[in-house]
Amino acid sequence: MTATLSPARSSRTTPSAATHRPQPVLPSSPARSQTGTKLSEQQVKVLRSALTPRMTKYIPHKPTPKQAAFLLLPVREAFYGGAAGGGKSDALLMAALQYVDMPGYSAILFRRTFSDLALPGALLERSTEWLKPTDAKWDDNKKTWHFPSGATLTFGYLEHENDKYRYQSSEFNFIGFDELTQFTESQYRYLFSRLRRLKGSEVPLRMRAASNPGGEGHEWVRASAALISRPSARAGGRRRAGRWPSRSAPG
Ligand SMILES: Nc1ncnc2c1ncn2[C@@H]1O[C@H](COP(=O)(O)OP(=O)(O)OP(=O)(O)O)[C@@H](O)[C@H]1O
Ligand SMILES: [Mg+2]
Repeated sequence: MTATLSPARSSRTTPSAATHRPQPVLPSSPARSQTGTKLSEQQVKVLRSALTPRMTKYIPHKPTPKQAAFLLLPVREAFYGGAAGGGKSDALLMAALQYVDMPGYSAILFRRTFSDLALPGALLERSTEWLKPTDAKWDDNKKTWHFPSGATLTFGYLEHENDKYRYQSSEFNFIGFDELTQFTESQYRYLFSRLRRLKGSEVPLRMRAASNPGGEGHEWVRASAALISRPSARAGGRRRAGRWPSRSAPG
């Protein structure tokens, strides 16, 4: 499930058609509109491209429909909640890699601690599985992948509150937080100020986060995401640990 963490600010850019092989979300069978009128080939093409996230050759997975929706979001800030094992971390890594073919693009992905990053199956290991067979090069000192375009993808951590200041002179086009509820709100907000657009670049500025519910930051993340609590949860006034409240329940 996706939600913006603050009122949607429209991006000046929209996800453009892939420069690499698009991975269609729409079925390839003949399409009909709701009224039963057959759509023209051109209309289907336009629709398909609007529903197809920008991809690069560095993304080996075909996004699920939820992941595709996340990758298509034309807003600056977005959050991906949902069930354990639902593909949230994968979606963050895909999102970070969507523009690595663009010169000067810089992305960073955070976990709270370095050991979180380095866990088996976590983001760092997954990036190695995805990128080792490609022409991207790993700099272990800087924990950064370098792409032939000049783009970079770095992995970072913010174990202590003040670790955020390590990034005070950094600039990123993409900042991703995995397991956002493990971070403090001030770390997240501070990093927001590091989102900067390259002069003349069409690459969108994106702040993206994903998390399971629970953790010390559950409340601030829930409040920021403006997720709508279920009436029963509100009546009880207690936190419903273990799940995010439904977005769709009426207030
Ligand atoms: N689109 C996809 N195509 C192929 N495999 C996928 C895709 N999305 C996720 N996976 C795989 O499914 C598994 C679970 O995905 P992932 O770790 O991203 O879920 P998660 O929501 O972050 O889980 P957790 O709640 O444990 O953090 C991983 O092995 C991941 O590589
Ligand atoms: Mg995960």
